[in-house]
Amino acid sequence: MDIDPRISDPAAEAEAARAPVAPRPGRARSRVLFVDDEADQLRVLQDLMGDRYDVRTATSGEEALAVLSAGKVDVVVSDQRMPGMDGAELLERVRETHPDVIRILLTGCGDQGAVRRAVNEGRIFYYLAKPVTVEELDIVLQKADQVARLVRERESLMLRLQEANARLTRANEELEERVRERTRDLESFVYTVSHDLQNPLATIAGYAGAARDALRQPDGPAAEAFLGKVESTTERMRELLRTLLGFARARLAGEGYREEPLGAVLDRVQEDLGSLLASRGARIVRDPDLPVLLCRPTLLGQAMENLIANAIQYTPAERVPEIRISARKVEAATEVRVSDNARGLPCEDWQRVFDLFYSAPGGRASGGTGLGLAICRRAVEAHGGTVIVEASSAEGSTFLLTLPEVPPRAVPVPEGQAGTV
Ligand SMILES: Nc1ncnc2c1ncn2[C@@H]1O[C@H](COP(=O)(O)OP(=O)(O)OP(=O)(O)O)[C@@H](O)[C@H]1O
Ligand SMILES: [Mg+2]
Repeated sequence: MDIDPRISDPAAEAEAARAPVAPRPGRARSRVLFVDDEADQLRVLQDLMGDRYDVRTATSGEEALAVLSAGKVDVVVSDQRMPGMDGAELLERVRETHPDVIRILLTGCGDQGAVRRAVNEGRIFYYLAKPVTVEELDIVLQKADQVARLVRERESLMLRLQEANARLTRANEELEERVRERTRDLESFVYTVSHDLQNPLATIAGYAGAARDALRQPDGPAAEAFLGKVESTTERMRELLRTLLGFARARLAGEGYREEPLGAVLDRVQEDLGSLLASRGARIVRDPDLPVLLCRPTLLGQAMENLIANAIQYTPAERVPEIRISARKVEAATEVRVSDNARGLPCEDWQRVFDLFYSAPGGRASGGTGLGLAICRRAVEAHGGTVIVEASSAEGSTFLLTLPEVPPRAVPVPEGQAGTV
């Protein structure tokens, strides 16, 4: 490579070794690959530059390409004259295989053709005409080092950009899936609601027509009875719409999450259901150590209220309703069980009972709309949880709610303060 003889003589080398170019601390050192067929020259370069750069060496173009393929190199400094593959050809190939590696050529006199080729084809960063002093080489390497750092920064930025992009794409896909799910949900909701509202409307139209006919025939049946039916069906429809609104709100409720003892949620539910409980003399048996849950208390109360109301309504008249409520922690969730001694559900209904307007054979309770368990499921799902019929027989059923310890997007808010979710 013909480093300046003043430096490559032993005394100068020793001097240079005593006063090496100071390393720059706190920064990743550039990885420089020196290529020269003269092993002595490579040793000199290793000694002189090893403190400042992470130096690798190769004694031929082929070996240099192998080093490049094996690990990351920032800068290649190649001598032009080497047997086999010369420097210009090597740098041309480096450009093709590792375009980000900075390329420097060391030339002797009479190498102008090679320089031209290296500049044009190899797009080299710099060429140095020999003899080269250590200072000259170091100045060029410092410049290359700056460029190498920029390249590294660009690479790491590109990597971060790619990662951010991948995260964004994933988030977008998840969002699209949720939108699709919600749209499906909404479509089936609209379909079921419009379908089920047809019945009372048809009844109203029928009684209204009968009332009109009755008014036309003075001797016919009294119109008042038909109008009474119109009124009661209208009232029933109003009740249905009120419940539907509750159902829609179960998910949309803007109530924030907070730490709330399950016992406190149940206290409120029992108060609300006071007259129903009293009318059947129902007994509620709670585990003494019910946990504190991170939840939306009103929404969770809605779920519990529907389960308890059902338990009472579907207990045969000859039994005293008895509802047991227990809870236990499992991994990252809390399991809450509501067991009753009601009439039970056939196996094939265990899933369907959570559908809108579904009523199992044996019928609804009077005034029932078939929405209670659908509301319950919505409220639980709004917490990122699930509700299932775990067991059921003619002696009673157990409903199992699984609530994640940290619900999705749960932000606890201080008591009394509404939070957004
Ligand atoms: N604990 C239970 N034991 C036995 N059957 C039940 C129980 N809970 C619900 N069911 C059955 O499942 C059906 C659906 O219940 P759901 O609470 O969704 O509606 P509903 O009680 O008919 O009306 P709503 O709750 O809207 O007043 C009920 O009609 C009833 O047949
Ligand atoms: Mg119900």
